[in-house]
Amino acid sequence: MRNYVFAKRVNSITPSPTLAMNARAQQLASQGHAVINLSVGEPDFTTPKFIDDAAKKAIDTGLASFYTPTLGIKELRTAVANHESSIDHLQAANVAVTASAKLALYALMQILVSDGEKVVIAAPYWVSYQEQVKLAQGEFYPILPHNPDFKLTTAELEKLDFIPKVVIVNNPTNPTGAVYSATEMQSLIKWANINDAFLIVDEIYDKLVYNKTTFTSVLKLASIKNQKLIVVNGVSKAYAMTGWRIGWVLADEQIITQLGIVLDHITSNPAAVSQYAALAAVNGDNTSVNQMKQQFEKRLNATWPQLTEIPGLIFGAKPQGAFYCFMKVDPKVLERKVMKNTTELTLDILEKKQVALAAGEGFGLPGFLRLSYAKKQDQINEAIKRLKAYFSE
Ligand SMILES: Cc1ncc(COP(=O)(O)O)c(C=O)c1O
Repeated sequence: MRNYVFAKRVNSITPSPTLAMNARAQQLASQGHAVINLSVGEPDFTTPKFIDDAAKKAIDTGLASFYTPTLGIKELRTAVANHESSIDHLQAANVAVTASAKLALYALMQILVSDGEKVVIAAPYWVSYQEQVKLAQGEFYPILPHNPDFKLTTAELEKLDFIPKVVIVNNPTNPTGAVYSATEMQSLIKWANINDAFLIVDEIYDKLVYNKTTFTSVLKLASIKNQKLIVVNGVSKAYAMTGWRIGWVLADEQIITQLGIVLDHITSNPAAVSQYAALAAVNGDNTSVNQMKQQFEKRLNATWPQLTEIPGLIFGAKPQGAFYCFMKVDPKVLERKVMKNTTELTLDILEKKQVALAAGEGFGLPGFLRLSYAKKQDQINEAIKRLKAYFSE
């Protein structure tokens, strides 16, 4: 073993726990175990055919062969600008297309955050925000909101004894499935404005809201022009396109230009073929999105009542969006099973019952579990049966 000395900035970076759990589940499955993997954050549907066809056409016509502008092909930037209904008249110049929403957020941290500058978010939060802030050498400052669905509120922000450089809000939220109301978002926007903080709203699950819940994009509530309000989105979740790696940022032109300069040296353009696929997705009608959404809604409604019957798990409000359920493990269960934390518990569940779940530690909230219902209902039912057995033992 060589003793490599890596850059200081990577010393405190931890591997993505959800990806690690996914890898372990896949490994067990490849050894012939009947693993039901409910740890991953991706739709189980394949990309709709009309999107695949558009990509094939881009390859056949040679469009996929070459570099494109770093910020994306003009058609896609314009399509994204037109697609988002906004109080602004958005233009291509307000859009940076990136090789995933994850990269969009990474690049934003790179351009906004310097040494020790604080980035605030509500816990539980999506795993990568924290590490991306650390990679930018900023200070990640999670707040645990005192409300049942863990939403960030201005009351919590008012309690801070500093003004953060950036506030991140994820709406709908991974891992809780909570959806912010227009009024709640409105007051966060107002707070950020008054305090001159950047407000990044990650709306990657915007099309996946259920049971008549209303989702309101911040683009409908406030202008992004000449403002520190930034929206991140992409095709991964709504169009079942996680493998294509296309995301985007909507922001003031100056912010987009700065992003372009950094992205010039990170990726240059996102894969051209994926951009043409994303163009078809964004310009397509909503039929396939709605079909997938209906499936998720059905699964949520079928899964939730069964899940809440599992002994030893404690539930908050029913999720309204995304495709996750987030639940607390009664501390007595950990005691009884002699487990130090929920990471150990998820590994034990995987080994004993072949069900993969994500542990709360990765989301900044130990003691909780996240279950993804982006799986066929019969598999979810079987997983719940196994979980019931595990928690009854
Ligand atoms: C809240 C949130 N934001 C961003 C992403 C990144 O999406 P992608 O990189 O696939 O575009 C994810 C993926 O799991 C997510 O859950």
